[in-house]
Amino acid sequence: MRSSNLLILVAAVGSAVACDSCYGPSSEVVHERLVPRIQPESQDSTVNPKAPLEWGQLNFLHTTDTHGWLEGHLKEQNYGADWGDFVSFQRHMKQKAGNLAVDLLVVDTGDLHDGAGLSDAVLPNGVLSNPIFDEIDYDVLTIGNHELYVSEIAYEHFYNFSKVWGEKYVTSNVQILNPATGAFDYIGAKYRYFSTAHGLRIMTFGVLFDFTGNSNVSKVIKAADMVKQQWFLDAVNYDQPIDLFLLVGHNPVDRSDYANTLGLVHSTIRALRPDTPVQAFGGHSHIRDFKVYDDKSTALESGRYCETLGWLSISGIKSSSYTGLMQPRGVANPSRPATNTSTSGLVYSRRYLDWNRRTFEYHATNSQASTFDYHSGLRVSGDITDVRKKLNLTSLYGCAPATYCQACKPFGAEGNIFSLIPIALGATVINASRSDIARYIIVNSGSIRFDLVKGPFTYDDSFIVSPFNDAFQYIPNVPYEMAHKVLAGLNGAVLPDKRGEGLVYGSMPQVKDSCVDPTISLITGTGSELKTRGIHRRQTVASTPGYVTTDDFGTDGDDTPHTKIPSYTQPNYIQGNASFPADGSNPDVVDVVFFDYFASVVVNVLNGFGGAYSMADVAYYVDKSYTAQNYLPDYAKLEWQANVPNCPVGEGVGYDE
Ligand SMILES: *[C@@H]1O[C@H](CO)[C@@H](O)[C@H](O)[C@H]1NC(C)=O
Ligand SMILES: *[C@@H]1O[C@H](CO)[C@@H](O)[C@H](O)[C@H]1NC(C)=O
Ligand SMILES: *[C@@H]1O[C@H](CO)[C@@H](O)[C@H](O)[C@H]1NC(C)=O
Ligand SMILES: *[C@@H]1O[C@H](CO)[C@@H](O)[C@H](O)[C@H]1NC(C)=O
Ligand SMILES: *[C@@H]1O[C@H](CO)[C@@H](O)[C@H](O)[C@H]1NC(C)=O
Ligand SMILES: *[C@@H]1O[C@H](CO)[C@@H](O)[C@H](O)[C@H]1NC(C)=O
Ligand SMILES: [Zn+2]
Ligand SMILES: [Zn+2]
Repeated sequence: MRSSNLLILVAAVGSAVACDSCYGPSSEVVHERLVPRIQPESQDSTVNPKAPLEWGQLNFLHTTDTHGWLEGHLKEQNYGADWGDFVSFQRHMKQKAGNLAVDLLVVDTGDLHDGAGLSDAVLPNGVLSNPIFDEIDYDVLTIGNHELYVSEIAYEHFYNFSKVWGEKYVTSNVQILNPATGAFDYIGAKYRYFSTAHGLRIMTFGVLFDFTGNSNVSKVIKAADMVKQQWFLDAVNYDQPIDLFLLVGHNPVDRSDYANTLGLVHSTIRALRPDTPVQAFGGHSHIRDFKVYDDKSTALESGRYCETLGWLSISGIKSSSYTGLMQPRGVANPSRPATNTSTSGLVYSRRYLDWNRRTFEYHATNSQASTFDYHSGLRVSGDITDVRKKLNLTSLYGCAPATYCQACKPFGAEGNIFSLIPIALGATVINASRSDIARYIIVNSGSIRFDLVKGPFTYDDSFIVSPFNDAFQYIPNVPYEMAHKVLAGLNGAVLPDKRGEGLVYGSMPQVKDSCVDPTISLITGTGSELKTRGIHRRQTVASTPGYVTTDDFGTDGDDTPHTKIPSYTQPNYIQGNASFPADGSNPDVVDVVFFDYFASVVVNVLNGFGGAYSMADVAYYVDKSYTAQNYLPDYAKLEWQANVPNCPVGEGVGYDE
């Protein structure tokens, strides 16, 4: 019997397996570069996860808020894996689940585009990246708000995406106008009732938070209304047995988050079914989080942008039809009740995996890269490379000499992107006929979506860092006395709420207030193990910068322990300038340049200083096709030509180099 042999093998090597790889060939680093995997430019992590995963009766891999990052993070070693690596990893894990005689479900909770060139450099966004995304053997998926802003994208999901996934795409509260019938149809399935490979019977709902920014072709039914609908009540009181409710939601898992509605759905189910476990998976707030709802219910949220792969395992689910094992042998098992007073018999584990090859190899095979790749995974990596070429994403503008982050440095510090942006604006936003008139150029910090990371700055990065299509407008010849106060006035004013999530959840590791836990600077266990690997020159004992998570189970959720990357508050608006008098004197008048997006706010601010301006005084400063996405590429072409094309890449955000 093949599977029992494998069980014995797993049992025999146990925790020693992890150390086998500590004594890999000394040429391993060099060798890895030659293996066709990840994207050609990517680097791998240099540190192993802290320990093997705990496998239970029912296990989950969870992705959320991938936002088009299927190529992985080309310039950050913590997150260097691509979607093809994930394809291989997921296949290994499903096979391992089979060998261990347990269940593994793979789930996604939405937001598939608006984040990187692979999805965003083509219309409708996602039309080339979604087929790549579809290569994962997901069991359940649900829709994100970013699928609904633009009608064409919503229809891409209705006609293409939902047809690929059928009943696995669960959108319990999202409908779309079906042009064929004139009626509103659910984009996916209302619910999914299914049995796992080992006979667990699961009822699934997919619940988007109460999103209101959708285009008018879709309808988001508020959770408070959905939980009263008869179909929902009938599904909760289903006429067949339910061993577990699975809630997938583009929906923060923290019940105190203003957008959370999973809590209400959980409470409604709990009131009707006091004894049935409920397992939730959430997203949208772009953080790592895990919440305990009650002694039979927990909720996991797995970050964003292909930085995190979520892992959750449960044992103790009562089921008359389950044919697998409760405590698979030869692996660690979940051991923690959801609450101290739990009598449910359910135990849990959760882990946040860094999205890199080393992590995937470690958990999949406990061995070197050579045994990791499946053909399907390599093919998907190849497809990603091809689409990137086809879309010109690799087209190089310049070589960024350093990393400029959104929040990891205080405002005004070197390495803060808002120290770079004013200089770039001053150097690039120029109207030739007014180029010698002093000007302020003001942008909102929300127009920056991601850190600008050391290394090649490409067409792809123009989508990653500053993708929005805001054009530059201006008011000419504003008296200096008023003009020089505009920035401060804006920073005291309220930002018009146009982009929703993009503004609220902007910065790198969004660290929650509750995350003020002590920094893990030296991970003794991992460190002493890694010291035996002297052959790896870049191997370090100290942990690397990255996510440091505190959740309802404490501080041990991060699969690779990190030192925390600080997060500083930044102002809402920042300002560049040009053509001020060289002698340091003040000009009489200044052109005040700003994004069209907040033109009316600038007018109001000026009038608050005694001006008498109206929108009639506002004109385009440069051609309106020149947008927020253009000035950084132009700056790179001007100033970042050193080391082109052989541009050195850094280690990633948070690494001081
Ligand atoms: C569906 O996908 C095809 C190609 O894969 C694309 O040409 C088409 O525009 C998509 N449909 C919609 C409605 O976006
Ligand atoms: C949606 O808005 C567009 C543009 O305002 C309008 O033409 C269309 O009829 C609206 N559709 C629906 C279903 O309300
Ligand atoms: C649960 O037990 C742990 C460990 O004994 C303790 O630290 C924690 O405060 C307890 N939590 C509650 C809610 O009682
Ligand atoms: C990519 O760049 C090439 C050469 O500059 C150009 O001919 C082609 O039209 C570009 N393709 C796209 C999709 O931008
Ligand atoms: C212009 O910008 C530079 C660089 O940000 C800054 O040092 C300088 O003080 C600014 N000058 C004025 C007049 O605002
Ligand atoms: C530059 O400013 C002049 C004068 O306001 C204006 O006529 C012209 O259209 C501007 N140039 C561009 C490219 O918008
Ligand atoms: Zn998102
Ligand atoms: Zn979202």
